[in-house]
Amino acid sequence: MLSPEELREIESEFPHYPNKQAVCIDAMKIVQKHRGWVSDENLKDIAELLGMSVDELDGVATFYNLIFRKPVGRHVIMVCDSVSCWVMGYERLRKELKNRLGIQMGETTADGRFTLLPIVCLGACDRAPAMTVDEDLHLNVDPQKLDGVLEKYK
Ligand code: FES
Repeated sequence: MLSPEELREIESEFPHYPNKQAVCIDAMKIVQKHRGWVSDENLKDIAELLGMSVDELDGVATFYNLIFRKPVGRHVIMVCDSVSCWVMGYERLRKELKNRLGIQMGETTADGRFTLLPIVCLGACDRAPAMTVDEDLHLNVDPQKLDGVLEKYK
């Protein structure tokens, strides 16, 4: 069941959109902000609230890769794997991250601290390689200096 706070936040978006369905991404983001991810049960509750089918909403969630449909770690690292970052050292960065965290792409560290995911172009191609940790954008990431980047995310 959605919490009163989640409901209040979702309903406060309604006046900004032409219809309830248009709020679907914001609604999932609100639930994710509170719970870390969007479970099947949450998806059903949101769909009901917005007058959508669960399949329709799940389709949007699948398309929009910033909605997590599985539990994630406390911090989510998303590494850009599009062309400029690829050319500028994506593979080395990915390898360093996997080594330091001891996980593969798509996995979460055993202590629940980090989840490592790929993402398409972050719009910062001139400062590749790029990655995000939660809401923070990290540019020109030097794989040798990853410890300094990661240490502030506990
Ligand atoms: S290709 Fe990575 S930010 Fe654009």
